[in-house]
Amino acid sequence: MAKVQMGPGYNIYPMPVLLVGANVNGKPNFMTVAWGNIANAEPPMVAVAIRASRHTHIGIEQNKTFSVNVPSTDMVKEVDYCGVVSGAKVDKVKTCQFTVFYGKLSTAPMIEQCPVNLECSVLHSLELGSHTLYIGRIEEVHASSDCVTEGKLDLDKVKPFSLLAEPSRQYYAMGEYQGKAFNIGLEFKEKE
Ligand SMILES: Cc1cc2nc3c(=O)[nH]c(=O)nc-3n(C[C@H](O)[C@H](O)[C@H](O)COP(=O)(O)O)c2cc1C
Repeated sequence: MAKVQMGPGYNIYPMPVLLVGANVNGKPNFMTVAWGNIANAEPPMVAVAIRASRHTHIGIEQNKTFSVNVPSTDMVKEVDYCGVVSGAKVDKVKTCQFTVFYGKLSTAPMIEQCPVNLECSVLHSLELGSHTLYIGRIEEVHASSDCVTEGKLDLDKVKPFSLLAEPSRQYYAMGEYQGKAFNIGLEFKEKE
């Protein structure tokens, strides 16, 4: 199969859509982040890439804490809004009618309407060029009780969604089941 060289880019699909929260001058603010993911298992850590121009960046620098909130598909309009307007100009919490709560960290605001919330303390920050990569240790995970079944998060109820950046920047809910992880590939063992 012939390959087309696309040039250096960030072509990984899909990207999780998250709301990152921070207190800026003592006031909660949230921004949409698609460049974020798990970074470590023990202890649990996340990595989020935030441009220095973001209002949220100020808050993370002030407190060295932030939150990662996993929104559900019913929040897609609020999420998009939080990604196109800045807390430097408007009160997004008020406009979106977010109910804010705090956990162990008094400076990492979280959104009650999001079914999953991670409160994080900054362990490392890397200036990579356009973005600061924050590595946060996950201090606690909060889950809405109606999304927990037998002690585990039920993703059919969480209803997370992702961003497909190409061809035209669209949000998508979870896709079709493709197979059991750490299992379906074991068929190849017969060919070893
Ligand atoms: C779907 C989507 C994903 C985004 N992902 C990021 C991201 O990963 N990092 C970033 O710095 N900005 C990202 N943005 C842009 C910020 O969310 C946007 O500039 C926001 O207004 C910043 O808010 P703030 O100034 O209140 O912090 C994204 C926007 C959208 C709509």
